[in-house]
Amino acid sequence: MKMPFVHAYTVDLSDKKSINATAKKTLDDVPRIDVLINNAGIVTGKKLFECPDELMEKTMAVNSTSHFFTTKNFLRSMLEKDHGHVVTIASMAGKTGVAGLVDYCASKHAAVGFHESLTSEIRHQQKNGVRTTCVCPFYIDTGMFDGVTTKSPLLLPILKPEYVVECIMEAILTDREYLILPRFCYFAVFAHSFLPSCVFSLISEFYGIDATMESFVGRERA
Ligand SMILES: NC(=O)c1ccc[n+]([C@@H]2O[C@H](COP(=O)([O-])OP(=O)(O)OC[C@H]3O[C@@H](n4cnc5c(N)ncnc54)[C@H](O)[C@@H]3O)[C@@H](O)[C@H]2O)c1
Repeated sequence: MKMPFVHAYTVDLSDKKSINATAKKTLDDVPRIDVLINNAGIVTGKKLFECPDELMEKTMAVNSTSHFFTTKNFLRSMLEKDHGHVVTIASMAGKTGVAGLVDYCASKHAAVGFHESLTSEIRHQQKNGVRTTCVCPFYIDTGMFDGVTTKSPLLLPILKPEYVVECIMEAILTDREYLILPRFCYFAVFAHSFLPSCVFSLISEFYGIDATMESFVGRERA
């Protein structure tokens, strides 16, 4: 029986040279890449004037700019074979603004825009075998957003990582273009698209969205 194997590489996604060099190494070792998951992300959790410029730039680099370079490296062979899948792990912060998450929301809106344009580009080339999925979850209990709270745990629970992973696997296997979690967030995205912003702000306030980051701690840094 043929044993499955895994290759692991270390890459700094805030550095284009590191991405290109690691992608080259990967393609030398593994000739066929079926799925690219742009998952890495960072959060400063700082308000605009409290956040050092370098951290804001790093947030953009890791959470969104890196997607250009990873995808440029791996998509070409997917298009040639008309087979593959590019997954963008964005966030609900890519669909709406949140107080205390200026750099993070900007980076995730960019990731969502990247996914939408990439999807259109691939579709326009009629490469129907290359699929895309964008994942927009509310907070997940991974440690990244430690300390955040939710005012509505029934409709907007802090998600369990295992549940999110299961949903992402299913979304990839069923070629879903968008996965938004929890389900209630589909309503939020829909409401955001047509309600006047002052009305949407009232709804957002009712659900305590702008207060969620007040107790943010994030990952303890060494
Ligand atoms: N945790 C949440 O509440 C939440 C909610 C919505 C979306 N997301 C998104 O889900 C994704 C995964 O987040 P997570 O919750 O598992 O957080 P995490 O902190 O557990 O994982 C983030 C990963 O990104 C890697 N990373 C960070 N900077 C990097 C760099 N410069 N180069 C290479 N790798 C780097 C880290 O090593 C880590 O493995 C992220 O894109 C995040 O923005 C998380």
